Amino acid sequence: MAIPQQTIDQILDRTDLVDLISQRVKLKKTGRTYSGCCPFHQEKSPSFHVYRDKQYYHCFGCQANGNAIKFLMDIDNRSFIDVMKDLASQTGIELPKDNQDSKKLTYKKTITPAPSISTPPVAPAPTPDHIQDFEPYPFPQDDPFLFADQQFTEITQEGNLYDLLENITQFYQQQLPKSASAQRYFKQRGLSPTTIQDWRLGYAPEDWQHLEQAFPQDIDGLKQLGLIRTSDSGRDFDLLRDRVIFPIRDPKGRVVGFGGRALNDEIKPKYINSPDSEVFHKNQLLYGLYEGTKFKAQDWLLVEGYMDVIALHQAGIHGAVATLGTASNTEHLNILFKRNHRITIAFDGDSAGQKAAQRTLEIALPLLNDGRELKFFILPNDHDPDSLIRQEGVEKFQQLWQQAPLLSDFLFALLTQQHDVSTPEGKSQVMGELKNMTQLLPPQGSYRYLLNQAFREKLGLGKRFTPKISHDASLSFNIRTRDEDFAVALLMSNPFLYTHFEQLRAYIQQDDLLAEILAVLDQVFDKLPEDQERAIYYVLGACYAYRNEIAELLQRTNVLDILNSPEQAFNFAKENALALQEKLLRQRMKRPASLQESQNLRMQLNELTKKISLRLLH
Ligand code: UTP
Ligand code: MN
Repeated sequence: MAIPQQTIDQILDRTDLVDLISQRVKLKKTGRTYSGCCPFHQEKSPSFHVYRDKQYYHCFGCQANGNAIKFLMDIDNRSFIDVMKDLASQTGIELPKDNQDSKKLTYKKTITPAPSISTPPVAPAPTPDHIQDFEPYPFPQDDPFLFADQQFTEITQEGNLYDLLENITQFYQQQLPKSASAQRYFKQRGLSPTTIQDWRLGYAPEDWQHLEQAFPQDIDGLKQLGLIRTSDSGRDFDLLRDRVIFPIRDPKGRVVGFGGRALNDEIKPKYINSPDSEVFHKNQLLYGLYEGTKFKAQDWLLVEGYMDVIALHQAGIHGAVATLGTASNTEHLNILFKRNHRITIAFDGDSAGQKAAQRTLEIALPLLNDGRELKFFILPNDHDPDSLIRQEGVEKFQQLWQQAPLLSDFLFALLTQQHDVSTPEGKSQVMGELKNMTQLLPPQGSYRYLLNQAFREKLGLGKRFTPKISHDASLSFNIRTRDEDFAVALLMSNPFLYTHFEQLRAYIQQDDLLAEILAVLDQVFDKLPEDQERAIYYVLGACYAYRNEIAELLQRTNVLDILNSPEQAFNFAKENALALQEKLLRQRMKRPASLQESQNLRMQLNELTKKISLRLLH
């Protein structure tokens, strides 16, 4: 469903972000913004700000930001459409109806009347589903000649692809008891009769046109589903022949496609899957998801094959799912992340599995928002899950699964395998490649920073690096750099920190660079691009007149090297703003304009020192 921008804007106009977020986060009004503890990362002091006028939120800790739609999508891991439907009903604005969907799911059902003159052809009684679309057959009343001519005329009526798929599933199921070899095959693979029934497993017979014969009225539907193909000479034949059949269900339990496996390993290809159709989208489906959900699975494990899924279920591991013969993609992982923030991907122990792991890593990294965890389970000794549980038992499987490394450890193992990390060169190469990898992580999360830190520590870089940086930081902070200059440097590296400094505008000396920068920021703050990097360029542009001072200052304060994380920048800003406020108040108190002002200033100073001492206690 495509929602016009106009409707989206209308819905956003009628939604109040502060109200909406207040339902989830305790917000306090502070100056022009509302703030609270960020729901997207763990923190004790509030760095999550909501701007009512801009209908925009921003977290200075983890850089999460966006509007009402983004908030709901991220906090509940829901899709855009899902969130829009909710907001639409809350605001009373109607979304455009998508009436194309139901049309696409139908096909032309052909009913050939019996070739007899005496009995006029009777169309089958329409089922309730078809009543609307059913057009009565124009039956010739008087002219017997005309009738004789038309006796082979076909009646068409609309068939529903889901109904057809259900009938085909039953057909394949019914063929299984008739085939000794197919039954032997399942037995040899250790599947119990209950498993065969639960998964609705079946058999597609050997002959070339069994579906055509069983469903003569549904040729159009069978073609739409890709289950019959047409040869170069124009003859139709079945896609799946002499294969055991794995019906594939969508999350609602409806059969939407089939996988067929050859009865012996010499036959290539080993598996044939029905192609994508109007109801079958391999990229958005996982084999076993419906069944796992039915069993209330919590721990999801993405494996490679149908047989792995079934064998694991039979052994009591219900969270196993597989892609449908395609590489796993973003959508597959998102389906699982919606069910649990922690998921595992299993890879077969062979070299193809290892390659797949690396590929999957690259598609998985951008999905790792804060709180999401991904484990990599590489199976030992060329095993797949099915062979492992058969040979070593399900306990062993569970144990290995539990020990599967977290993404950070897996990545570390992967990168350190490729370099000699006993040398400084090797270490820096690992850090370099890590940097390439972490570029793929979502920019708003703290994962990037944490991963870097974890690597530094593992490589023995952490101990030497961290104290040196903080030592330098305190030096430049206290001795060489004025608080005002440090504030400018902070603001240039993260313009969103302005909210901490805006109160200073009341006290600051007008000829100070900080005063000029604050004045510029006050002008442009509401127009800042949401993306932090773009915001920096925007502010640098707006402060072009002061570029030389700023460049000198950024170099002197070394601020970009000192700031290890957004959280640290945020904390520095808070300290710095309070220190500046105190300093400026004291300066002002030396020359008060009136007694009234003197009293006022004293009161403010008292408040402030209380605040500062409270912070020091924490
Ligand atoms: P594998 O080749 O790893 O086989 O294919 P498997 O799952 O261990 O199969 P068994 O145990 O020998 O029966 C993994 C998955 O890749 C897809 C299928 O979805 C299969 O389950 N595949 C494999 C195909 O689509 N076509 C093929 O020819 C082979
Ligand atoms: Mn296998």
